[in-house]
Amino acid sequence: MKLPRRFFQPLAVGAPAPLRELPVRLERMIHFVPPHVEKMRAKVPDLAAQVDVVLGNLEDAIPADMKLEARRGFIRMAESTDFGSTGLWIRMNALNSPWALDDLLEIVAAVGSKLDVVMVPKVEGAWDIHYVDQLLAQLEAKHRVGKPILIHAILETAEGVKNVDEIAAASPRMHGMSLGPADLAASRGMKTTRVGGGHPEYKVLGDPAGGGTRSVAQQDLWHYTVARMVDACLANGIKPFYGPFGDFSDPDACEAQFRNAFIMGCVGAWSLHPSQIAIAKRVFSPDPGEVAFARRILAAMPDGTGAVMIDGKMQDDATWKQAKVIADLAKLVEA
Ligand code: GLV
Ligand code: MG
Repeated sequence: MKLPRRFFQPLAVGAPAPLRELPVRLERMIHFVPPHVEKMRAKVPDLAAQVDVVLGNLEDAIPADMKLEARRGFIRMAESTDFGSTGLWIRMNALNSPWALDDLLEIVAAVGSKLDVVMVPKVEGAWDIHYVDQLLAQLEAKHRVGKPILIHAILETAEGVKNVDEIAAASPRMHGMSLGPADLAASRGMKTTRVGGGHPEYKVLGDPAGGGTRSVAQQDLWHYTVARMVDACLANGIKPFYGPFGDFSDPDACEAQFRNAFIMGCVGAWSLHPSQIAIAKRVFSPDPGEVAFARRILAAMPDGTGAVMIDGKMQDDATWKQAKVIADLAKLVEA
């Protein structure tokens, strides 16, 4: 991953804008909090100590008549909590909704200096990112926000998937992207009523064996989109994430979905339920056995070139680079 990278802070007022570096942070789980519910807000200080990112959700799952209360609740939560090194994000309302503009105006005015990332739903093209980028630049200048607020896009429409490369490259403010399987399923006309995960009818039947029995292999509905998103993100030095997994009663399926995403290159996923925090932490931290093997490769090829055999497997410059990805992540987890 190319992070950290240089970043222009587009402040128009005061001293010349300094060049900044994006922080390299662990963001294994983006934990969703409904900020209009006081009982949930009360848990945030404890939560902040357990998760990598706390996100105040203003969009889907917040009833229309609670939108303003959610925005106000987020501001109260941000003002009254010390998040330390835990990230503080919002998921704003969609850009074509009646709430989007005021979400940004009010939140940046009140707590812009504490806000790390704005997650923008239903992004369809670079134009959506440009709009939020300019608005954030104006609001940062007006309210003297000292560090740039980053943008994270949700990839959850067919049009967005078509334009994924342009979205990833749309602004130096881009932090990353999450797959939104629920909205994407609807946008694509998929025949599902689920939030992520597999489908029992999406399968491949093996050839009939001797007695007429045949194997059944379920397929990953999200493989294609995750792969496209990972390539678009990594080609632009930003981070790819798997999004939500809605069946809280099936932790095994959640873990399997998160793990596929991790292996494919994603750095984290959303946790919508407290039980998913531990799953994400486990999945998106590298396995100790893998780390030990990666460190053996790095030690066996100190300058990263040549070829060696380890446990009967060939290692060369390319596997050295793979090992470095795992060892670097382990270092971040251990820090
Ligand atoms: C998330 O927002 C999704 O639609 O899956
Ligand atoms: Mg969605």
